[in-house]
Formats: sequence, C-alpha cells, structure tokens
Amino acid sequence: MTATALYTDLSGYYDLMCADIDYREQSEQVRRLHQLFGNGGNEYLDLACGTGPHIRHFIDFGYSASGVDINQPMLDIARLRCPAARFFQQDMSVLQVESPLDLISCFLYSIHYNQSIAQLKACIKNVHAALAPGGIFCFNSVSKNLIDNRPGIKRNLKQGDSEFCFQSNWYYPGDGEHQQLQLCIEKTTHGQTETWRDQHPMVALDFQQMQQLLEPYFDVHIFEHNYRTILPWNQLSGNAIFLGIKK
Ligand SMILES: C[S@@+](CC[C@H](N)C(=O)[O-])C[C@H]1O[C@@H](n2cnc3c(N)ncnc32)[C@H](O)[C@@H]1O
Repeated sequence: MTATALYTDLSGYYDLMCADIDYREQSEQVRRLHQLFGNGGNEYLDLACGTGPHIRHFIDFGYSASGVDINQPMLDIARLRCPAARFFQQDMSVLQVESPLDLISCFLYSIHYNQSIAQLKACIKNVHAALAPGGIFCFNSVSKNLIDNRPGIKRNLKQGDSEFCFQSNWYYPGDGEHQQLQLCIEKTTHGQTETWRDQHPMVALDFQQMQQLLEPYFDVHIFEHNYRTILPWNQLSGNAIFLGIKK
C-alpha cells in the first residue's frame, strides 16, 4: 500500500470523502474571477484534477476542458465523469501542454503536492509557459505558519453495506519546506474494520514566499478563502485564493 493510497488503491472512495465539498460553488467563483481578470478565452486546464469534479462544471459553463493528474486511477474516474474532456497523466511540476490555455486552476491545496520549493518554482514557470497572453492561473494555498497540527474533525458516511470514517489534518513540524496531509480512513463492513493511514508529503511555504515565486511571471492578487464573495485577503487568514494574470 502506498503512502497516498487515497489516489490509487482507494480512488473509488475519493468522491465519497469529498461529498461535503461544494464543487459548483468553487467552480463558479473561479469562473467569475476569470470573467473579471481573464482574456475572454475558453481553453481550460485543471491541474491535479483528481476525479474531475471541477472539469465537469467548466464543461457545463461552455469551456473546452482538460485535466492533468499524476495518478491514473483518478484520471480513469475523471474520464467517465467528463467524456468531452482530455486527460493527461503528468506530474504538474513538469507540465507540458499541446496548445495555449486561457485558464489554469488547481483546487483543494493540490499546488502543495509539488514536493519542494524548487519543484513549485518549476511548476509556476511551466504554467506561465502554458498560458496564452493574459491567461489566468488560480489556486488555493495554506500558509505554513498558520497550520493547526491538531487532528481534524471526523466525518462518518455510509455507502452500501459499509460505514466510512474519514479524518484529515495538516501537519507542519515548525521549520523547513515540507508539510504533510495526514488522512485516516476506516471502513467497517459487517463488523470488520479496515484502516488506512495516508501521509502525503507536500511543500510548505507562507504567502509572502508564494507571492515572490509568482511575481516574476504573474500580476498577483490574493483573495479571502471564500467561494461566495470576492474579497482581498485580510493578511491574517491561513488559507487564501491566489490569482495570477500572465505577464
Ligand atoms: C486533494 S486531491 C484534489 C483533486 C481535485 N482537484 C479536487 O479538488 O477534488 C489531489 C490530487 O492531486 C494529484 N496529485 C498529487 N501529486 C501530483 C502531482 N505532482 N502532479 C499532478 N497531480 C498530482 C492526486 O493524484 C490527486 O488526484
């Protein structure tokens, strides 16, 4: 079993784990930001697209959509959900695209799956190269200084004969450029419980560092992590939405 079983062996349970996420709301917010700041084009790419929930909405909005993910089992589910989209198995730090894009997104803090600052830098450079003039890069991020290492809230869900319990939290050891997403998944069927403990290595940085990495390539705006309104980041919250307009 890998350290990131959720995206391979357990990929069939990913959507169940994310059942509380309002993907439509997130997609509508990024679409609004694109309408406000973008170049009017409709070529869309979602990085670390997972099972394709955002891509589904962008296709419904009228975009021509594609997705990149490193794990093929996630892409297999995305393909079923979005037959009109194109999917590519790639590590986003070495992103290469066939033709220029107008909007590139990366949701659910997945930008942190770049494994180091050097790889994040390479990813940003490649995203910039993949965008058409005036193209937009939009993602959310968590600041390493404001990570709460305590275990997250447990969520219980039922599917068929099985009860699932999902728990996740960030862990940052206090220094260095690495943090973890720690996940515990328990599946109980007819009284038998199986447990998986995932530890996802991710890059850790603060928002000032993120801004500095983006600025050579993008005009940068930072917004509150709120998908219902567009408000500038209040300089205090540890989650934010970053938007870069290609220079
Ligand atoms: C938290 S999930 C997010 C999926 C989707 N964006 C969503 O919002 O539901 C993170 C995704 O990142 C993918 N991933 C992890 N490392 C990656 C990398 N280096 N390049 C591309 N995708 C990666 C995983 O396979 C997984 O599908």
